[in-house]
Amino acid sequence: MTMTSQSTNGQNGLAIETRNVNLWYGDFQALYDVNLDIKNGAITSLIGPSGCGKTTYLRSINRINERLGYVRIEGSIAVLGHDIYDRGVELAQVRKQIGMVFQRPNPLPISIRDNVLFGFEIHAEGRQRMHRSEKDEIVEKALRQVLLWDTVKDRLDRKATELSLEEQQKLCIARLLPVKPQVLLMDEPCSALDPKGTEAVEELIWELRGQYTIVIVTHNMAQARRASEECIFMLMGRVIEHSSTEEMFVTPAQQETANYIEGRYG
Ligand SMILES: Nc1ncnc2c1ncn2[C@@H]1O[C@H](COP(=O)(O)OP(=O)(O)OP(=O)(O)O)[C@@H](O)[C@H]1O
Ligand SMILES: [Mg+2]
Repeated sequence: MTMTSQSTNGQNGLAIETRNVNLWYGDFQALYDVNLDIKNGAITSLIGPSGCGKTTYLRSINRINERLGYVRIEGSIAVLGHDIYDRGVELAQVRKQIGMVFQRPNPLPISIRDNVLFGFEIHAEGRQRMHRSEKDEIVEKALRQVLLWDTVKDRLDRKATELSLEEQQKLCIARLLPVKPQVLLMDEPCSALDPKGTEAVEELIWELRGQYTIVIVTHNMAQARRASEECIFMLMGRVIEHSSTEEMFVTPAQQETANYIEGRYG
């Protein structure tokens, strides 16, 4: 797999360029000829019935599928112009650019403050020389960005696992930010939350708009409609349609898309 000469570090307005991706779990093919251009700085939602490959595709973008020894992938994915499947690529560098949020909030069983600093302590340059006050600033900034600061500022040394699920998920987003990723991948980030929590986290995702390229998987059509600018519909391992969210919901080009949006299956 080689980097295409047109790739220009996102300067072509694209954050993620996926070319002819096929993926197998053992003998089972889960992705078929996926070709997708994901816009830089936009929120793109990924929808489709259970088992269609949404999570599989998302996990291909930061190469966490390959932790499973029986996964095989063909094709290429360039993130900001760099083919992340290129042999010379450093996985740590890839992961630094790409933050991921999972279905269930997964804060570490350490303090709120240390959760926010955890990725930063691993990845960021110059961190060894940093004073406590500088780190405090980083913590405050990240927590403010996720609208959590006012709630937790007086208990930063408490265990993150004591927070409500909504707060935990916000914290899981906050801890990505000090590493300064360009891309945030979110796999049904609201699925474990109650309606109020869902609303709060969705609002937060909107707040982050323009600062990051966000790809978000959701089963919630209303959320896709409200929270994204672009939308991708997948079915049985294939991309059926990719367009502006408005277009997808108002005038879908494919019959399968219309069926799914109208709730006829999945
Ligand atoms: N680790 C795995 N090993 C084997 N098969 C897998 C694995 N993970 C997923 N699959 C299969 O690959 C296909 C796509 O799964 P994937 O989890 O990507 O779908 P999804 O669209 O995210 O579904 P959901 O909406 O239920 O989360 C499914 O048929 C699934 O059973
Ligand atoms: Mg999934």
